[in-house]
Amino acid sequence: MTDEKAISVLLKEKRSYPPPPAFAKTALVSGPGARARLQAEAARSPEKFWGQAARRLEWFKPWRKTLVWRAPHAKWFVGGRINVAHNCLDRHLDGPARHKAALIWEGETGETRTLTYLQLHREVGLFANALKSLGVAKGDRVAIYLPMVPEAAVAMLACARIGAVHSVVFGGFSAEALRDRLNDAGAKVVVTADGGWRKGTVVRLKDAVDEAVAGAPSVTAVVVLKRTGTDVTIRDGRDHWWHRLTAKVSPDCPAEKLDSEHPLFILYTSGSTGRPKGVLHTTGGYLVQTAWTTRHVFDLRETDVYWCTADVGWVTGHSYVVYGPLACGATALMYEGAPTHPRPDRFWEIIERHRVSVFYTAPTAIRAFMRLGDEWPAKRDLSSLRLLGTVGEPINPEAWRWYRETIGRKRCPIVDTWWQTETGAIMISPLPGATAAKPGSATLPLPGIDAAVVDAAGRPVPLGQGGYLVVRRPWPSMLRTIWGDDARFRQQYWSQIPGMYFTGDGARRDKDGCFWILGRIDDVLNVAGHRLSTMEIESALVGHAAVAEAAVVGRPDELMGQAVAAFVTLKGGRAPTPELKDELREHVAKAIGAIARPADVRFTDALPKTRSGKIMRRLLREIAAGGAVRGDVTTLEDFTILAKLQKDED
Ligand code: WT7
Repeated sequence: MTDEKAISVLLKEKRSYPPPPAFAKTALVSGPGARARLQAEAARSPEKFWGQAARRLEWFKPWRKTLVWRAPHAKWFVGGRINVAHNCLDRHLDGPARHKAALIWEGETGETRTLTYLQLHREVGLFANALKSLGVAKGDRVAIYLPMVPEAAVAMLACARIGAVHSVVFGGFSAEALRDRLNDAGAKVVVTADGGWRKGTVVRLKDAVDEAVAGAPSVTAVVVLKRTGTDVTIRDGRDHWWHRLTAKVSPDCPAEKLDSEHPLFILYTSGSTGRPKGVLHTTGGYLVQTAWTTRHVFDLRETDVYWCTADVGWVTGHSYVVYGPLACGATALMYEGAPTHPRPDRFWEIIERHRVSVFYTAPTAIRAFMRLGDEWPAKRDLSSLRLLGTVGEPINPEAWRWYRETIGRKRCPIVDTWWQTETGAIMISPLPGATAAKPGSATLPLPGIDAAVVDAAGRPVPLGQGGYLVVRRPWPSMLRTIWGDDARFRQQYWSQIPGMYFTGDGARRDKDGCFWILGRIDDVLNVAGHRLSTMEIESALVGHAAVAEAAVVGRPDELMGQAVAAFVTLKGGRAPTPELKDELREHVAKAIGAIARPADVRFTDALPKTRSGKIMRRLLREIAAGGAVRGDVTTLEDFTILAKLQKDED
């Protein structure tokens, strides 16, 4: 953990924006008093509060006990039996949602598809039976490596239906990254496509799967969706076309009556060590909190067209593209491609054409659009929008105001939602009809969530002071463990601050108690709203034949929040050429994925270390940011390195 001094109070944003009266009037939770009451009630008995939320779902068997907490292991809705796919689909078929659009999909190439709840239910039944025909049984792991197509949601729900555990791997990850995840999860089946569209070119997913599966002995079958018509090799006995497989089975597949704590999915995320962590989420609690938060944070109505722009490869895509909205019986839009393809107004055009009313995206996207100029959204009719949301990183007040004025046309409240892969669902956020928003602040913990800012001993710090963001009590959608590594689960989240879940973020609270997230304080970067481990990038770099040693830090980047900056020492005899820089950048992209490609590579004779041999990343961060090295350097072993590094700045 870095020193507490590093947590500085960054922003002093004063303005506050109460909910627009017209919005507040009809909101699910209306006015600050209503939120305060809800909050107080939930604080008195979080279990009662979450029990009430759980009763909105359909349980095959009621739970005996709402929570069993043996720190750091929680069990929610103990003894209850439930199925996520049943709640996202079957439950809506007897009511007015039967023929309502569940998913509206738009491909990058312009085609659209709408699946009603009834149609989606059928697709899921077919694919669930297809998985069964490949020998997939309850508890087996199924990897999903697909573009943003409806079949991604179908595959996830099909797993949930039969109690298989899915592990969605973002289609932008490399074959090597996929292989490691397949092996860690012990995946039996991989679901992929011949390709996906991105910025007008085909991403060759099946090729990556072939390469990955060659090194993943647990995989016995690969299902291939035809999406782009790209030529792929089909290996007899192992590979199966999706359309052939589903043509052979019935759409009737009963939903397994699963234990509330049955594993639902594994999702890999970066931690401060090189190896990605398989965050494990389970069934009942996860669905209760994703459904509650979707409904209340987005103030969701029957008539909304809700669009979350996240890829299903990230947790936001799990909780707020698929499970939350479908559990609420909402109409969710799904878009396959790049935000600015073929023109910078693609998103605004989609909003106009589909009459999107709730829009949820990331600050990095907002900043990118801001740069492209106001003329693009100005040309589009965005009057259908009534609520905007952001997630993934702190939003700078300037981008927040642009979002409010240029996209929301000053009519729409903005919800800045703080949460993590590990928390499974939103934890800190305004309720749009009740909470005054402050640009840059996620405002208040949701009812039933006990978030706090504390010092290293777990004592709350005074308002206005920076500290560690923790959660003091278990919440329904919390991660249950790290797949296959419970020791790491304990160590990573529960050992740093006694008795509390440590988020890895620094934060402060203002005089109103609002939370301001100050960013990660561990060795994790946040590039365009996605977590990357510095260690993982370092080990990729050291994997290159020319590299002796590497240190990776984040530096501020106007667009991406943070950019990857790498400091590299070369093996004897290797020349520090510009070509080698490019080669190293590509090497990282190939090893992990394009998202991890370093923005800067700097060659150096040596890295600044302490006498005990620890790399002084703080110094590198300051150098990477282009600033002078301030702060304490007394522990630095060799002062000449610092001078050289600063001189070498290009
Ligand atoms: C980390 C979690 C949760 C979905 C997307 C990212 C940062 C997330 C906010 C926000 C400030 C935020 C935190 C957090 N973060 N949302 N609204 N304001 N920071 O999921 O990859 O698990 O990353 O993203 O640093 O710890 P993730």
